[in-house]
Amino acid sequence: MNILLTGGAGYIGSHTAVALLEAGHHVVIIDNFCNSQRSVVNKIEQITGKKLICIEADVCNTPVVLKALQENQVDAVIHFAGLKAVGESVQNPLAYYANNITGTISLLEAMRTADVNVLVFSSSATVYGDPLYLPIDEKHPTSATSPYGRTKLHIEEMLKDMASSDPTWKIICLRYFNPVGAHDSGLIGEEPQGIPNNLTPYVARVASGILPQLQVFGGNYPTADGTGVRDYIHIMDLAEGHLAALNFVNQHPGWIAVNLGTGSGHSVLEVIHAYEAVVNSKIPFKIVDRRPGDIASCYAKVDSARELLQWVAKRGLSEMCESSWNFQRAK
Ligand code: NAD
Ligand code: WQD
Repeated sequence: MNILLTGGAGYIGSHTAVALLEAGHHVVIIDNFCNSQRSVVNKIEQITGKKLICIEADVCNTPVVLKALQENQVDAVIHFAGLKAVGESVQNPLAYYANNITGTISLLEAMRTADVNVLVFSSSATVYGDPLYLPIDEKHPTSATSPYGRTKLHIEEMLKDMASSDPTWKIICLRYFNPVGAHDSGLIGEEPQGIPNNLTPYVARVASGILPQLQVFGGNYPTADGTGVRDYIHIMDLAEGHLAALNFVNQHPGWIAVNLGTGSGHSVLEVIHAYEAVVNSKIPFKIVDRRPGDIASCYAKVDSARELLQWVAKRGLSEMCESSWNFQRAK
């Protein structure tokens, strides 16, 4: 298939591009590089030994997206392009609505004109808000705790309306839990600008001595060791989940949301200890106050992914930490 990846140079997009190319698909990327490097494209080609097409453009530019769809005879789109920093979205909500919502509307207009109706959308476990029960299934009520989360919710609703309005649309919203780690080559991985907000990139920088100490946000949550619990999923498992989702959605008109996680939660201290085992040294950390907006625990019920997509995550926490460290060292 010919597959367009909006935001395909980013963290999840680049790993998915590798998985798609290795499975024999043709890949077209549209990215404006607002949160990624152009060099990632060469690295995807280096890993796979295959060529892809990369167009530097904003997904809000409908004519460019339309041209990309038509000229490359695109069969399906995976829509990664979006801004994703929760704190930044609280500071600058308009940027998030403008980029994430307008970008999706622009993409949908281009897809409708080009008669491309297969769409995989990057949603997030953030649409579940503060969990009412665990593990979280797809029927769990949705809510948002930040403007970022609201963009994901609004887009999901928008896509549902599109599918109701025209039965030829085939749309799957993938609700990712916490993607971590990197490709085994160490060539691509998660590269946040400045000081990382997320746990594993922060731990990687502490392990390599770039940052002195990890702050563990909260030690008195109602969890086994008092620290926050999340469903960390290896980035290559997540990438392979997109292949499974494409195969499924191609044969299933309508709209559906599916969780992509492992189904197991790990605490911050467990992540630190798993990373220590990989680097074979202590990771300095200090337990500090809770981070505003954080929840105690979050992990997925993964039955839908297993039954509908025939996909399960295969890699464990130590492989996630190993690949993260391998990428950090390669840098
Ligand atoms: P990322 O920032 O690494 O990748 C996003 C890519 O989109 C970047 O390359 C960026 O340059 C590009 N982009 C952004 N706005 C664009 C625009 N208007 N036009 C063209 N390109 C644009 O983020 P990621 O971690 O790879 O996330 C991909 C998607 O998955 C996002 O939609 C994000 O909200 C979602 N998601 C991410 C996580 C996570 O923890 N990483 C979790 C759940 C959902
Ligand atoms: C994980 C755990 C922190 C940093 C975020 C977004 C979510 C989704 C994925 C896009 C928590 C703790 C972290 C640190 C720490 N993204 N922590 N010290 O918050 O679960 O999810 O990324 O959709 O929407 O909110 O991920 O990696 O920031 O935190 O103790 O320096 O690590 O408190 O328990 P989070 P995270």
